[in-house]
Amino acid sequence: MAQQRYTLTAALPYTNGPIHIGHLAGVYVPADIYARYLRLTGNDVAFICGSDEHGVAIPMKAKKEGVSPKEIIDKYHGIIKKSFVDFGISFDNYSRTSAQVHHKTASDFFKKLYGQDDFIEEVTEQLYDEEAEQFLADRFVIGTCPNCSYEEAYGDQCENCGTSLNATDLINPKSTITGAIPTLKKTRHWFLPLDRYEGFLKDWILESHKSDWKPNVYGQCKSWIDDGLKPRAVTRDLDWGIPVPVKGAEGKVLYVWFDAPIGYISSTKEWAEREGKDWEPYWKDKDTKLYHFIGKDNIVFHCIIFPSMLKAHGDFILPENVPANEFLNLEGNKLSTSKNWAVWLHEYLQEFHDMQDVLRYALTANAPETKDNDFTWKDFQARNNNELVAIFGNFINRVTVLTQKYYDGVVPEPSEFTEVDRETLEALRKYPEKISGSLDRFRFREASQELMNLARLGNKYLADEEPWKLIKTDEERTKTIMFVALQIAVGLAVLSEPFLPFTSEKLKHILSVIPNEGEESLNWSTMSHTETLLPAGHQINKSELLFRKIEDQEIEAQLAKLEATKKSNQQMNSNIEPQKETITFDDFSKLDMRVGTIVKAEKMPKADKLLVLKVDTGLDTRTIVSGIAESFKPEEIVGKQVTVLVNLAPRKLRGVESQGMILMAENGEGKLVFVNPDEQDVKSGSLIS
Ligand code: MF3
Ligand code: ZN
Repeated sequence: MAQQRYTLTAALPYTNGPIHIGHLAGVYVPADIYARYLRLTGNDVAFICGSDEHGVAIPMKAKKEGVSPKEIIDKYHGIIKKSFVDFGISFDNYSRTSAQVHHKTASDFFKKLYGQDDFIEEVTEQLYDEEAEQFLADRFVIGTCPNCSYEEAYGDQCENCGTSLNATDLINPKSTITGAIPTLKKTRHWFLPLDRYEGFLKDWILESHKSDWKPNVYGQCKSWIDDGLKPRAVTRDLDWGIPVPVKGAEGKVLYVWFDAPIGYISSTKEWAEREGKDWEPYWKDKDTKLYHFIGKDNIVFHCIIFPSMLKAHGDFILPENVPANEFLNLEGNKLSTSKNWAVWLHEYLQEFHDMQDVLRYALTANAPETKDNDFTWKDFQARNNNELVAIFGNFINRVTVLTQKYYDGVVPEPSEFTEVDRETLEALRKYPEKISGSLDRFRFREASQELMNLARLGNKYLADEEPWKLIKTDEERTKTIMFVALQIAVGLAVLSEPFLPFTSEKLKHILSVIPNEGEESLNWSTMSHTETLLPAGHQINKSELLFRKIEDQEIEAQLAKLEATKKSNQQMNSNIEPQKETITFDDFSKLDMRVGTIVKAEKMPKADKLLVLKVDTGLDTRTIVSGIAESFKPEEIVGKQVTVLVNLAPRKLRGVESQGMILMAENGEGKLVFVNPDEQDVKSGSLIS
């Protein structure tokens, strides 16, 4: 097959936190599957990524943690880079936008456009925070989106509807630094006049990519273009970023979304330099195919703004496709770094050692390709137990154990093939093409299911042919069956590589098909053209389990962890009532509060909220009616020590006289809890003072 050159980019993650399953599912796993697939089918691939270390997100996080922005980027660059390695994301280069090569590349890019008069230079009124003495753009300001009314849209983009915004478009803007309502102040900036690119974008996207881009991507682009594009500032008044490389721009930096995508080019340069290659064909040769893998909130930047920059520059190719994914939710709620509603990759590995492929598979099988999707731990468990263990793992285990048992691990010589054997081998040969068909259209879920179907085919073949029975009566036939099954096992080893790289490696080791230096490895095309993938006489290694079952307790532990996160978030968010008016000590000393013990509790008939309690106050045993029936069952509170206000004037509730009050507080979930003297046993009647 002729070599085709590809440049694949995956969105540069912000180094303001670690990465979670949403990042993997939306961007990095599909990008990696695609990169591995292209390499396996004989293409020349540059798979490029790096850390996005500029923009307001970084100084904001630094402020929160009380450290310098540099410390933040170094810390998270390290964590993120390691997560990618751990999960087998096979970048050819992982760079960072703080690298010198990037500063130079981005500066030069700006200068070229500046020199060509591609910018509008203008003094305009921008949002300003008087208290912080700072201009407010991007994440420093939130307000209501003029497009969809989402109330937490940022100054440059609404993450709800994806629209790109100018900060002054926001309705009711508010500073995220001080909470202040911004004023307007004049400042000079450079704008990219997107309106000049409307014609180009219409031809390039609306005409040329109508049928090959994903409908969600195409649709978003169309609606923005149809709405009319406006000039966008590409510089900021900020002290963190790449200095604007022209006179009169002191104290200003490039807008993060101007510099970050250029990071793809810088990272390619860094890679080429290291590998002794020429970077230019990867970005300039018209025969190169450029693909951007991103999440849906990045569409406007990769389909409208960056292409307009590339077009303006003039030297570069444009993306062939931008297969953006929708969002992944977690157990029904939006993933959120600030709310800690996430499965962090580094934490996952602490709990599921060496089970990267399981997560990769679960995320692929359930990828948010055409709509937002939900990750649930139950589904994760089911994908593992019912598919990886019960189908894939089970098939491989049967084949390799039986081969060891019957033939000491030597692939047997087949005799006559039956109709079923021939059909099975023919079906096996079709799988590379089937999976390619899905991958070529960015249908990763479908592709992962085709892979599983191959394992199903193997399982069914063994179940129908029953070599474990035939071995007693027909040794020759058994050899043929095992030979056919072994071919399927090799097929799985090859075709699983893009999806399950660690498993594929392990399986290739078991089957002893890892090529020696200089030998060609089994790949997509050898699979569809070779009659025999594993010849008779080939020695395989000892069998090993590829997957292990995930127990219910492990899933329950994960759910409990999320439950705890929910609780602590609710507690943090529950409204704190303002302090009441000051009272004197005399006022306070009028309250007679005692430790009491609940000795009896029953429901008040026909009242949902009330319990009738008998409380031993040390002074007496009295009746107290309490509105706690929605939080406690009567039987669970008998014997509990509580705080009782004993000198409250008695009053009748539903005809029952209540002689005092029990002190309660509301917890984060709105459930009432007793305010009691710790867990220690205090004598009933003790005065609280
Ligand atoms: N850091 C951005 C995000 O996480 C993505 C940047 S992609 C690039 O949303 F094109 F700018 F590099
Ligand atoms: Zn919006």
